[in-house]
Amino acid sequence: MNILPLFSLPVLIDKYPNSFDDELKYIRSLSIRNRDHQQSGSTSFSQDNFILNHSKMKKVRVWIQEKINFYINNILSSSNKVFITQSWIVSGSKGQSLHLHNHPNSIVSAVWYPHLTREQSPLVLTQLGLPFNLQLKMKNDNQWNSKSVAAPLETGHLIIFPSSVYHRVEASDSDDTRISLALNTWTTDEVGNQDTYTSNATSNSKGFGV
Ligand SMILES: [Fe+2]
Repeated sequence: MNILPLFSLPVLIDKYPNSFDDELKYIRSLSIRNRDHQQSGSTSFSQDNFILNHSKMKKVRVWIQEKINFYINNILSSSNKVFITQSWIVSGSKGQSLHLHNHPNSIVSAVWYPHLTREQSPLVLTQLGLPFNLQLKMKNDNQWNSKSVAAPLETGHLIIFPSSVYHRVEASDSDDTRISLALNTWTTDEVGNQDTYTSNATSNSKGFGV
């Protein structure tokens, strides 16, 4: 017997192999604001939304880019070059949550956790529809019947997932503030195929018919 994981999505998790005391110190020094003043229970965000462009974050950026390259080139088997666009800090203190959302205008998104303990709320990846479109009685949760998955993450971990995947963070009871660095990606390579009229190119790369 064989069970085929039909149309499954890859989610990469890896741990930063070096110490990052200097980077964490820099991140803690950044100006943080509540982006949506209507939602006092919402997590806060850094003013700067190109954090990884800062020289102090270069080592972490190089490592994250390597993992994105692995995801795109080895797991997805794509030859597209995908690079980091915006990157920002999300700070969640006691009682703060992050609403369900995904990341438009990005290929894969990633979150790196400079400070996340087991007592703090996990990142929950969610599909909007029900598996099988039914509320069957389940004996236990598994990869085939779950609508949501809490990612097994802790300090130092990086998670990479398709930007279309919805995710959220529930409010935490921990007095400790969870700190994460989120980022999006894009490509300047051609997407689609000129022969099937799906290309995003703005001129004819084949050199004829212009
Ligand atoms: Fe997000």
